[in-house]
Amino acid sequence: MKRPAIDVCGVSKVFESDTGRVEALRDVNLQVPQGVFVCVVGPSGCGKTSLMRIVGDLEAPTSGTVRVNGKLPGEARKAREIGVVFQSPALLGWRTVEENVRLPGQVLNDSHVAARAREMVRTVGVVGLEQVGWYAVTSVHRQGADVPSRRLADG
Ligand SMILES: Nc1ncnc2c1ncn2[C@@H]1O[C@H](COP(=O)(O)OP(=O)(O)OP(=O)(O)O)[C@@H](O)[C@H]1O
Ligand SMILES: [Mg+2]
Repeated sequence: MKRPAIDVCGVSKVFESDTGRVEALRDVNLQVPQGVFVCVVGPSGCGKTSLMRIVGDLEAPTSGTVRVNGKLPGEARKAREIGVVFQSPALLGWRTVEENVRLPGQVLNDSHVAARAREMVRTVGVVGLEQVGWYAVTSVHRQGADVPSRRLADG
């Protein structure tokens, strides 16, 4: 069988803080095949974001293992095989839409990525708003601007 794109094996996550202990995930097992679109659905607080953050190397599991394309999440992230679109758009208020989309290319010092910004803006249908501050566009367009900026971060 072909190696899964994402392989989550016995993952648990416990958050400990001054205010107490929260068991966000317990023994989660999930195999996502290559080329498949998967939605994780569940009530608020059931651990969806925690799971995504662990797969995306934004959080470490308390126990269990994760592989992305056969690699540890940190390795897959460094190989730019992971893209993250946050629950709320993570855009910079003092930059226009296009400047926001260009940002990952600037951070990575990758002119190829920066040059693709306009093409990516067109792909998600935010055309005509490139020079507008992100705060002036609708929430749908904000999310639209966020998608290519995350995708470009992914390369
Ligand atoms: N950094 C953290 N510190 C402490 N508790 C946390 C932290 N992050 C998440 N939690 C807790 O872990 C549980 C799972 O949260 P999580 O955000 O993963 O749920 P979710 O399914 O994404 O919810 P929603 O549908 O509201 O986005 C919740 O009880 C939440 O309060
Ligand atoms: Mg969430």
